[in-house]
Amino acid sequence: MAEAPLRERVRAVMDAHWRPEGYTVPNTDVYPWQWLWDSCFHAIIWAALGEPARAVGELRSALADQASDGFVPHVRYVTDPSFLEPFWGRAGTSSITQPPMYGHAVAELARRGVDVPADVVAAAEAGIRFLVDHRARSDDGLVTVVHPWETGCDDSPRWDHWCGPGGWDPARWYDVKGELLSTVERSTCGSPLANPAFAVAPAGFNALVAFNAAELGLHAEAADLAAALERRWEPALATWVDGAHPSGRVRTADALLATLVPTRTDRRRREAAFAQLDEADAFGGRYGPPAVHRDEPAFDPGAYWRGASWPQLTYLLWRAGAPVGDRLVSGARASGLAEYWHPDTGAGLGAVPQSWAGLALLAAEPSSPFGSVPAR
Ligand code: GLC
Repeated sequence: MAEAPLRERVRAVMDAHWRPEGYTVPNTDVYPWQWLWDSCFHAIIWAALGEPARAVGELRSALADQASDGFVPHVRYVTDPSFLEPFWGRAGTSSITQPPMYGHAVAELARRGVDVPADVVAAAEAGIRFLVDHRARSDDGLVTVVHPWETGCDDSPRWDHWCGPGGWDPARWYDVKGELLSTVERSTCGSPLANPAFAVAPAGFNALVAFNAAELGLHAEAADLAAALERRWEPALATWVDGAHPSGRVRTADALLATLVPTRTDRRRREAAFAQLDEADAFGGRYGPPAVHRDEPAFDPGAYWRGASWPQLTYLLWRAGAPVGDRLVSGARASGLAEYWHPDTGAGLGAVPQSWAGLALLAAEPSSPFGSVPAR
């Protein structure tokens, strides 16, 4: 039997993952709750599927537990508010955030002719303002995260420094991630402001804050972060680094998201960043760029955040102008719309199917700016 076209497959997964409460779960077994950046991507996928009500509804629900100061929690336990309550110290949601992709979602929905209500736009703006105005900054002016989970790149080798002197060890890292929650400093309403035990201002996260700010028209905020990011460029590594600690210099795909940021762009940096996506010993990959540069000791193409290819990163690099749309589509197809996949074989890894793999649909659209990919 012939394989169903990509659009039908994405539609079937999104329908199966849609919840009556008005959002899409990433995967029914592994991720049965609502995640913030996932939902922002889902809203875009729903819009591409011609479902504006679901697109707006999902975005609104992702922002529904926003605090009065603008903080947006990264997981909502809608159907069981007591789930993990002792762990997070609050009921119903987590107590940290994730990349603020709601700015891009608002703008992309509008570009697709979806009417995004003013309250949703205002909530998205407030979310960015929380990060820009209330979140602790690094000495060089970038926004810090309070926990590795806030980056969405949970086990990235950029955090290995915090795993301790023995280096990366999954069991130890699991414990460290738990411990790091205890040192988060919070506002009077509980919003996470700083973490002295993890005072990192990642290049990738800041690129996404700046990009999402720009998408909402918050250009001064975006330009401010973009200027600070420019100072993080490391020519010898052809990437933007996180800081002085050695693991902050590991070459990761998410750091290349600085190419999303509108600056007085140094064209040579952009070219150097993108050139690596075509190099077989760097970030090349038939099914998408690996999350970690192949020459890094940490590189492992089958491992969670340590070398596999992630569809949402490939999508964002494609939006930044990198010619990787065809790889996103091939990987989504070959992997069965997986959470992430092997960059060379396309073998599905993690949760399968995962909703955000549906982002491939955008790269397959005939009108896509970087060339269409046949939808079969
Ligand atoms: C994993 C990913 C994170 C994602 C979540 C739900 O934790 O690392 O980025 O949001 O799964 O898909």
